[in-house]
Amino acid sequence: MTKRVYIKTYGCQMNVYDSARMADVLAPLGFAVAESLEDADMVVLNTCHIREKAAEKVYSELGRLNRLKRRRRASGGEFLIAVAGCVAQAEGEEMRRRAPFVDIVCGPQAYHRLPELIERAKSDPARGAFDTEFPVESKFDHLPEAASPQGVSAFLSVQEGCDKFCTFCVVPYTRGAELSRPVAAVLAEARRLVGHGAREITLLGQNVNAYHGAAPGESAGGGTGWGLGRLVRALAAIEGLRRIRYTTSHPLDMDDELIAAHRDVPALMPFLHLPVQSGSDAVLARMNRRHDADAYRRVVGRLRAARPDLALSSDFIVGFPGESDADFAATLRLVEDVFYAQAFSFKYSPRPGTPAAEMPDQVPEVVKAERLAELQALLKRQQDRFNRAAVGQTMPVLFDRPGRSAGQLAGRSPWLQPVHVDADARDMGTMRDVRILAAHANSLAGELASQATAVASVPDAAEPERVPA
Ligand code: 5AD
Ligand code: SF4
Repeated sequence: MTKRVYIKTYGCQMNVYDSARMADVLAPLGFAVAESLEDADMVVLNTCHIREKAAEKVYSELGRLNRLKRRRRASGGEFLIAVAGCVAQAEGEEMRRRAPFVDIVCGPQAYHRLPELIERAKSDPARGAFDTEFPVESKFDHLPEAASPQGVSAFLSVQEGCDKFCTFCVVPYTRGAELSRPVAAVLAEARRLVGHGAREITLLGQNVNAYHGAAPGESAGGGTGWGLGRLVRALAAIEGLRRIRYTTSHPLDMDDELIAAHRDVPALMPFLHLPVQSGSDAVLARMNRRHDADAYRRVVGRLRAARPDLALSSDFIVGFPGESDADFAATLRLVEDVFYAQAFSFKYSPRPGTPAAEMPDQVPEVVKAERLAELQALLKRQQDRFNRAAVGQTMPVLFDRPGRSAGQLAGRSPWLQPVHVDADARDMGTMRDVRILAAHANSLAGELASQATAVASVPDAAEPERVPA
């Protein structure tokens, strides 16, 4: 009998990709993906540890799952609870204590070992199976080929981990050292995705523009490898692939080759998520970002010189330890100077084990809340302005999911804005010129322009869930 696994994803797009790959790992064991918890024999929580709130959500969900497990067991059924992702990595031992009913704990670098963890958990249910070792070899060498259909807009993980050690961030501890997948593996996976109907690929990595994958024919450790700019050019040559994006980038790794790709490769979309975190040089230094605010402004200037219609997005942290009113004002100034089409902003959340959590002058919660509200109001004004400027324009939209109501499709503009259009379901997977009629808070509404750009139709393709990075 087929078993079913329900995978719930928290956090970044990397986790969305990892969840699809976990489904690939579990498929040979006879697990199909369940649409809801009620149908599932096993649940995987693919978790996020980036801020405290994200981690706490996992424990409240686990309480619910424990009750479900007890009910299932009482009626003679089976129910396995697995916790994967960054909370598993960071809190494996703590979880054993706080949630002893969890059967499997599996870090982000260990999910290729899920089959043996399931075996271990079943043979010793009282102990469960915990695996948060960083393996010497890359999990990518042990994963089955990516097979879970991702639809028109697909994610492809090319790089993992981070060696930057920003002082607020858990990623270098939960995801481990930086690692790039070889070029040949990335190109092969991209071709398979396109063969399954993908027309847009977003390359993923915690530090994606630090990519330095082994060149085709080169051994994994040998040579200097290809940078992201060169990889993007090679991907753009794949027939049927219309759009390429990448996320998330670090300003320091924005090299000449990548900036030139923004100038030369039309398939590389004119939208870039380039986190700056703060506009204050003093705060940037304490964050160990290794660049100042003007260096960021210069990178943005070079990118816009290469691709004048480039729209930018960023991440910001307010209330980092020691942040003064003047520091915060510098962040507002940077936002005014750069102009963002969209952005994510967060209150600083001390993470256990990171250097900033131990820094003096932690900022009171009320001050963080005030600053966040002010920053978000400014960012919202910019986003509204950006979206309003689209009204009256005609732009290519790649339809990647059904719209809100029957007879509608939704897609993305080149600048990642969601666009809703009255269109036939058969247009799913095509890129069409759309005239923008109205701008709403988080999306645009448009109508098909008479001129359509012909692309092969991809019926029945579904859009993967999108979550902010
Ligand atoms: N507190 C608040 N925000 C954080 N981020 C990372 N760590 C923290 C933290 N400790 C934010 C950064 C990063 C984004 C993914 O999450 O802005 O770019
Ligand atoms: Fe975290 Fe990004 Fe800094 Fe790496 S570069 S430590 S992932 S914020």
